[in-house]
Parts: sequence; C-alpha cells; structure tokens
Amino acid sequence: MSFPVERPRRLRRTAAVRRLVAETRLHSAGLVLPMFVREGLAEPSPINSMPGVVQHSRDSLRRAAAQAAQLRLGGVMLFGVPLMRDPSGSGATDPDGVLSTAVADVRAEVGDSLVVMADLCLDEFTDHGHCGVLNEQGGVDNDATLDRYAEMAIVLAQAGADVVGTSGMMDGQVGVVRAALDAAGADHVSVLAYAAKYASAAYGPFREAVDSQLTGDRRAYQQDPANRRESLREVRLDIEEGADIIMVKPAGSYLDVLRDVADVVDVPVAAYQVSGEYSMVEAAAERGWIDRDRAVIESVTGIHRAGADIVLTYWAGEIARWINEGRA
Ligand code: PBG
Repeated sequence: MSFPVERPRRLRRTAAVRRLVAETRLHSAGLVLPMFVREGLAEPSPINSMPGVVQHSRDSLRRAAAQAAQLRLGGVMLFGVPLMRDPSGSGATDPDGVLSTAVADVRAEVGDSLVVMADLCLDEFTDHGHCGVLNEQGGVDNDATLDRYAEMAIVLAQAGADVVGTSGMMDGQVGVVRAALDAAGADHVSVLAYAAKYASAAYGPFREAVDSQLTGDRRAYQQDPANRRESLREVRLDIEEGADIIMVKPAGSYLDVLRDVADVVDVPVAAYQVSGEYSMVEAAAERGWIDRDRAVIESVTGIHRAGADIVLTYWAGEIARWINEGRA
C-alpha cells in the first residue's frame, strides 16, 4: 500500500471547497444581542471594560433594537441599570422601572420582528448586588427571592417581553416563574432558563456594565466550575419545571457541558458568551496579540459546534454584518 491512503487535505484546498463542506454555519437568526440600558442617560455611555459596548439611553436603545431587527438577529436580551437601588430590588418590579420601560420601548420599535428577551434577576436592582433578597445572616434567601421573581416575571410580561431569562440560580425559579406567568394570562411568554450557570470570573466586565454593587461572590448559588454532572441535574430540574430553552453560561470554558446538555435535551439549547470572553479577545486584539475578527468567528463557531443552537454574544450585530457580506 502506498501512503497517504486518504487525503483529507483535498477538501481544504480552496475557500469554496471549505465553505461547501463546513459542518457548522453561523446564522444571524441564531444570534442574540445582549444590551444594557441605563436610567436617566441622555446619550449612550461607553463601558470601559467592554470596548465597543455601551450603556444605552432610551433613545439609543430603540435605535440599536431597530438595527438588530434589520440585521435579522434572533433577538435581544435586555438588562436594566436603575438609578436607585434597595435591599429588595424594588426597581425590578416597578412597571415604570428602567427594564420594563426598555422592554416596552423595544417592543414598540420592532413589533414581532425580533424576539424581545429580558433578564429576570434582582442583582441590577439590589443595593447589595446579590441576585436575590437576603436573610438575617446575610445569605440569599431562596424562597423569599422566588416571590420577587414571580412578581418580576409578570411585570416583564405586561411590558411585552417574549422571553424572560431566569438568571438568578435560585432553586425552583423556573417553576415559580412559569406558574406566575400562566396565572397572569401570560402563558405565551417563554422561559429561557440559565440552567447551568457557573460562578465565573468571566462576568467581571458585566459588573461595570450594570454598575454592580456586589462585594464578595455568588458561589453560594451559582455552580462550581469543577462540576460537570451537576449541570445535567440543573437542566433536568429546569425542564421538569417548564423551561422552554436551556442555557449554559459562560460558553467558552464550558463547551463540554454544552455538548453534554445538547446531547440529552429535546428543547433548544443556548449558550452565553459572556462579558469576560468578549473583553479578553478585545483586549488582546487591542495589543495586536491576536487577529480579532478571526478570534471572534472561531470562538462563536466553537460554541455553536459544541451544541448551542442559540448564542448570546456582544458581537451578534457585527457577526451578522459579516455574514451578510459573505465574510463569515
Ligand atoms: C445576572 C447576570 C449576570 C450576567 C448575566 N446575568 C451576572 C452574574 O451572574 O454575576 C453576566 C453576563 C456577562 O458577563 O456578560 N443578572
């Protein structure tokens, strides 16, 4: 026998062949753009630790949402940054609060052309920065927090959200939110469950983006990065409780988890490429240490290849433009 017997390189010879045989293709419809809106802003305000990402004003958010619709993105995920915070995060359940207002604004702007998602969590609204309300010992009170989430779900649904993203990692949150939505006549609103959400250093830049008041960390409710099997448990519970879409977060350091989850569920799978994943590439590129555009495409392709049908990424708009230009 003479070697090589097989020549896999034949299918890598030209860009046209590579395009033909690609197993994974990025599509705008599977990309979701997370956006921040800050109460009281007249102009968008840059986020230092996330070059290219801003805290939006009401007006600039509407314009950005219109652009996202024009790019035919899958959706937008909205985060609100309030002016005032308190221990119970009351701004989260204020129908005139920053997030509900943003949901209504975006809904009015884009109609049904874009899926409007809203973060369902208290951390942006609490003065201690935790994802729930605290008990007397200063820990997060799971069940008292669930009552707040139920209220918040109804407010977001009434503002016009298509999807609420339960990101707080409280036990039972999906079931409680589902029941609250259904009882409020909002059985059309979907729950995107941050099922496997790890206590990650990669949320660092997000803390600036939402002006987080947190001291300490979230290890008593978010998952330990050491654990893989535990994610399947979280996913099973969320599906039993009625999750419509399951999410793994962060994405890049958890591709094994993403693959495990994608192999066993029969609901759509999402992954969140978080702020730190974004900023690490941007920072290295700024120093000329990495080819930015290639690193962006490679990272999102990897997440997709590992099993994500839907990717939340701060590069969603840019990637969609590249796709339209035939560059991705
Ligand atoms: C919680 C929430 C966080 C992120 C999304 N939802 C912060 C956290 O859990 O600490 C992080 C997203 C990112 O880093 O891009 N509301």
